[in-house]
Amino acid sequence: MDSGEKFEIKIDDIRIAARKGQTIAESLLASGLRVFRRTKQNAPRGVYCGIGICFECRMIVNGIPNVRTCMTPAEPGCEISTQYDAAMDCTNE
Ligand code: FES
Repeated sequence: MDSGEKFEIKIDDIRIAARKGQTIAESLLASGLRVFRRTKQNAPRGVYCGIGICFECRMIVNGIPNVRTCMTPAEPGCEISTQYDAAMDCTNE
């Protein structure tokens, strides 16, 4: 397990701990968060493949939608939001 430098990231209205070398998805899972996105039908989605293939872990990261959090390193100060596909012009589901 990585024991890199600790810092905080913001997810919606809460702050969680992250470590240097972790992906955003790893940080969220380590904090007990499982729902990263909601489909147009409001179904919860989170990490499925963990290797950048399925796109289920997409979130809004620093204002950019559809970021695969399993492939994106957590960075100090990054701001992440749950993605609600119903509120966006998304092609999936
Ligand atoms: S969990 Fe499949 S792309 Fe991130």
